[in-house]
Amino acid sequence: MYTQLAVLAFLLANVAPSNAGLFSRSTHGFNIAAHHAHKVAIKHSAGLARDLRVAFRGVLDVQSPDSPSQNVYCVSSGGGVTVPIPNSNSSSPSATSSAAGSAPTSSGSSSVPSSPWKPIAQYEGQSFFNGWEFFTQADPTHGNVQYVDQDTANSAGLVSINSQGHAVMRVDTTPQVQTNRQSVRITTQQTFTGGLVVMDSVHMPTGCGTWPAFWTNGPNWPAGGEIDIVEGINNYTSNQATIHTNPGCSIPSSNSTILDISGTVVGGTDCSAAQTGNQGCGVRSNTDNSFGSGFNSNGGGVYAMLWDNSGISVYFFPRNAVPTDITDGAPQPSNWSTPMATWPATDCNPFEFFNTHSAIFDTTFCGDWAGSAWSSTGVPGQEVSCAQQTGFSTCEAFVQQSGASFSEAYWEVASVKIYQTS
Ligand SMILES: *[C@@H]1O[C@H](CO)[C@@H](O)[C@H](O)[C@H]1NC(C)=O
Ligand SMILES: *[C@@H]1O[C@H](CO)[C@@H](O)[C@H](O)[C@H]1NC(C)=O
Ligand SMILES: *[C@@H]1O[C@H](CO)[C@@H](O)[C@H](O)[C@H]1NC(C)=O
Ligand SMILES: *[C@@H]1O[C@H](CO)[C@@H](O)[C@H](O)[C@H]1NC(C)=O
Repeated sequence: MYTQLAVLAFLLANVAPSNAGLFSRSTHGFNIAAHHAHKVAIKHSAGLARDLRVAFRGVLDVQSPDSPSQNVYCVSSGGGVTVPIPNSNSSSPSATSSAAGSAPTSSGSSSVPSSPWKPIAQYEGQSFFNGWEFFTQADPTHGNVQYVDQDTANSAGLVSINSQGHAVMRVDTTPQVQTNRQSVRITTQQTFTGGLVVMDSVHMPTGCGTWPAFWTNGPNWPAGGEIDIVEGINNYTSNQATIHTNPGCSIPSSNSTILDISGTVVGGTDCSAAQTGNQGCGVRSNTDNSFGSGFNSNGGGVYAMLWDNSGISVYFFPRNAVPTDITDGAPQPSNWSTPMATWPATDCNPFEFFNTHSAIFDTTFCGDWAGSAWSSTGVPGQEVSCAQQTGFSTCEAFVQQSGASFSEAYWEVASVKIYQTS
């Protein structure tokens, strides 16, 4: 009893100063700040419950890392607890966990150079969905989506493991819905401060009205920081990676040559959510196989987010250019080609503005970004507006009345792996 009261006191103390939704992917675009401002009050109240839930989970993890109710497909980063790995038929050489302190990547193959990056969590194969929470609250970005729980998602066929052993996350394709269309949003129970997140996907959601993302987020948004790794809307074919932070974080230049990135800075250089109407520091890829139909027709690829003392970077490797150190499960980021985006530590301390992140997937509809850009053009993949392509004047009406249009709105993910240096 005393313990529970202490936990509750801890939670309330930590939740009290919370701002907007802990796991809210922020709003984007340059023309929506005013719209967003109207909604901030809603985000505040929704954020409180989420903060509480996640803070509570964090405490539980510390107190019972080997809880039998959690069949987590991962190696605990603290305490050296070894969790059984249900799927032994895995191509990953590091799938066999071992107690902390011993070398977890001993695959027996001397041809794989050893990596300082060791897996703390891996999600793949039949057990992919173990270790994720299904978010079921209202979309903090105001999409007309209904996120469903795991049982509902399973029975409705919205989540599954396909014959290739890939995790599939679909949206409801019922022809007509009255209000919101069903989808899923999942968050890792594993958290990390600093690390390397590697996500291998062969297909991602695309099409007018969709707004998919893969990102990481910390507590008390934006204090814990947000790192959007894969994100875009509608028929976009170029990925946008963005960070959102407390005031005081910026990028030193908007010049790609100076930043040594392959992408293009698309907004300002102030990454503060509050000071930029939530725009943050966004970088758009210059390759049209990095998102949406272009990504899918190329067999997808691997996104990697590196968060270390030098800053935060996002890398994209199209399917035919994935480094062997990644497929070997022994990543060597120092050996990789130019990142698509970088936010250097010189102007944004990566351990001051970011902490205790989880990784998150979702697919939402319309809302702050996809909805507000319904009639827009001028972004790669969006040469013709969705209003013109679909004949619907609003995103909401299209989503409600055109279920068959969402057959391509699915994630098919081969793996997510989270690494840290020991
Ligand atoms: C995994 O199972 C498949 C089908 O049973 C088999 O062909 C494959 O060799 C197995 N892979 C490993 C690594 O055991
Ligand atoms: C754009 O989205 C619409 C609606 O989902 C779809 O019919 C169309 O094929 C897409 N266009 C491209 C080029 O992918
Ligand atoms: C970016 O920086 C490089 C190197 O300093 C410079 O040559 C180039 O002109 C700059 N580009 C722009 C658009 O300012
Ligand atoms: C770095 O890349 C080169 C060329 O791709 C490769 O030959 C080398 O083995 C790599 N080094 C490490 C440590 O992975």
